[in-house]
Amino acid sequence: MSLLITNIGELVTNAPADDGPPGPGPFTSFADMALVIDAGKVAWTGPAARAPAADQVVDAAGRAVLPGFVDSHAHLVFAGERGAEFAARMAGTPYAAGGIRSTVAATRAATDEQLSANLRALAAEMLAQGTTTFECKSGYGLTVRDEARSVALAAEFTPEVTYLGAHVIPPEFAADPDGYVELACGPMLDACAPQARWVDVFCERGAFGPDEASAVLAAGAAAGLRPRVHANQLGPGPGVQLAVRHGAASADHCTYLDDADVDALASSATVATLLPGVEFSTRHPYPDARRLLSAGVTVAIATDCNPGSCFTSSMPLCIALAVREMLMTTQEALWAATAGGAHALRRTDVGHLGIGARADLIMLSAPSHAYLAYRPGVPLIAAVWAAGELAPA
Ligand code: NIG
Ligand code: FE
Repeated sequence: MSLLITNIGELVTNAPADDGPPGPGPFTSFADMALVIDAGKVAWTGPAARAPAADQVVDAAGRAVLPGFVDSHAHLVFAGERGAEFAARMAGTPYAAGGIRSTVAATRAATDEQLSANLRALAAEMLAQGTTTFECKSGYGLTVRDEARSVALAAEFTPEVTYLGAHVIPPEFAADPDGYVELACGPMLDACAPQARWVDVFCERGAFGPDEASAVLAAGAAAGLRPRVHANQLGPGPGVQLAVRHGAASADHCTYLDDADVDALASSATVATLLPGVEFSTRHPYPDARRLLSAGVTVAIATDCNPGSCFTSSMPLCIALAVREMLMTTQEALWAATAGGAHALRRTDVGHLGIGARADLIMLSAPSHAYLAYRPGVPLIAAVWAAGELAPA
């Protein structure tokens, strides 16, 4: 069954150039367009006036159609919530990563069914807001059993599963951090690697230092996992350089960077994934997106959805923050939330609507992508197709 979506006011394709590498190209959009989906993929795009026939037709009536959002950083396997911690933070208590441990306790105490139900609800929330690809980390279990079940549960919802056993040192290893790194590089990794695609480490004062983080990434790579790093979130540090040295697909947060960090990112294929929802929810300063973009760094935007530092699943909110608070143009922010996320996950089939791409797309109840920032907080997602299937409203 083919589907024609016609009378599209603005079609954002980010289509790859004919002679370029596979995967998304630069921000690209056209007016008065149509698009055909066949067998779950984009089969044709072009002027509405020249649209071919199809089995089914949807009239977009001038509304915008965009690639589905690619949320390349989320922590969705957890139990409990930290609303009181957020409220205290808004009343002046600074954010410290220590709150992670309270989520670890709740996650360990939860059943598989509870964790899965929470994950299912968050994944549905994301899809309804236009996210058609998401990454999901472990990291709130921190025992072999709890990390292994975290990656196994995540793998039921997404292929982009990340082993984050090195999130923080759990309380029972407070006196033996080296012992925990050995566990995370050994039996815990062995139990998780078969279900994961990525290895991540929180490289930060109070979490893991550069040598420990390096050991985790190297062990992960030896087990067939590709690296990504939580870097320079709470202060300056070695995380970004470490990410580049290990050929990480992405260095995430990038809130506190010096010139050498920016140069290292610019001369590498490591994406800088910015998570403006975290700065919104922690009252930290926003990352300097303009500095990264001027240096030629590939920038992605993701939610970091987690119960502590940022409990939003909304890519539209993050786009609005990127535009308003990080001075990105609406085009840059939309590209970063689609094609940028695809780069951060090393995916060539999503983040764009070139011919042959997965038919992951959003129809807005608005005439242009700019409305995502122009009308912040307004539910503008009129319809979502994932691999060509219309998602339940
Ligand atoms: O990406 N930085 C480390 N991990 C999460 C925070 C998790 C939490 O506070 O529970 C983050 O911000
Ligand atoms: Fe995170």
